[in-house]
Amino acid sequence: MNSLIQSVHHITLCPGGAQQDIDFFTKVLGQRLVKQTVLMDGNIPIYHFYYGNGDADVGSIATCFPYSRKPGRAGSGQLSCTSYTVPVGAIPFWKEHFERHGADHSGVQERFGTKYLRARHPAGLLFEVIEERSDTRTPWTTTQVSKDVATRGFFGAVLSVRDPREQESFFVDALGFRKVGVDGPYHRFEVPGTGPGRIVDLHVEPERSPGSWGFGAGTAHHIAFNVETDEALVNQKAVYEELGYTDASEVKDRFYFHSMYVRSPGGILVECTANVPGGFYKDEAPEALGTSLLLPPWFEDQREAIVSQLEPITVPEENRPKPGTTPAPQPVVAGQQKPAEEPAIPVSHYKAKFGADNQTT
Ligand SMILES: [Fe+2]
Repeated sequence: MNSLIQSVHHITLCPGGAQQDIDFFTKVLGQRLVKQTVLMDGNIPIYHFYYGNGDADVGSIATCFPYSRKPGRAGSGQLSCTSYTVPVGAIPFWKEHFERHGADHSGVQERFGTKYLRARHPAGLLFEVIEERSDTRTPWTTTQVSKDVATRGFFGAVLSVRDPREQESFFVDALGFRKVGVDGPYHRFEVPGTGPGRIVDLHVEPERSPGSWGFGAGTAHHIAFNVETDEALVNQKAVYEELGYTDASEVKDRFYFHSMYVRSPGGILVECTANVPGGFYKDEAPEALGTSLLLPPWFEDQREAIVSQLEPITVPEENRPKPGTTPAPQPVVAGQQKPAEEPAIPVSHYKAKFGADNQTT
């Protein structure tokens, strides 16, 4: 089939503490905090952080719900590792860098003929840096992570499955990936096309107990793939349904993109996204990305209740606007926002009630 999928759009994870997560992503992984917002479902304010490369490119964005309310259980049926590309020769730097920050790491490993190194987030999440010669995306740099070693964006992701057969059918028949090889327990799939972020490795672990599916600290929640338009989202949903994946969601308004979700047969939640005009730049100047808490317009009237229930955080100095660059815009006030771009298809959003009654310790 022709694939509607273009590449990985984002990978969504559940760490624990908010500041702990910001510190790991920015200082240890050297990512740019691109956006601070909140979960757009349910009635409890949960931060939603987006981290990415220098340009906040689609395909570099890890999004995190710091969910310290309860632990999750890592296991099969989950995304087990988030993979970033780094320049060839950068692995020794990363080994030293992880050690400097006290992050557990795997030592240098190899699969499909390429070196990689895995490290563990304090909440238990796994990340890897993979050497890749041809990735020209703009990295974010920090005082410790310079341009010659910094991550460029996603190589892809590793998904743990007990049995690869139905998950393989899903990737090939429903998403249009092609299988490109097997290396031990790893089965590699690639979206046709050019550019980075088109790889998924199924890690076959027949004996591994299933992981939890809901939000829970220390577990991955889902992987999202980009499609070109809202119409492509609708068409992808039709592909799912004609193949018998009948629990695909409606198309949801995530403010920065539109989303549609389905639970894949191996257990991993898979989202497809279509970008909206402006994307991550629609409510912040490029220099100011990630420097203040932004809410979708339909949450703005509850800003006070939301903020009162969130862990205070400090934005890393490196994410603050530099002198002479454009300041952050004022948050949009309910009722004063610019008319929204009219989506080409019906999209839904959830009108939450963030009362103080929802607060927990
Ligand atoms: Fe998502």
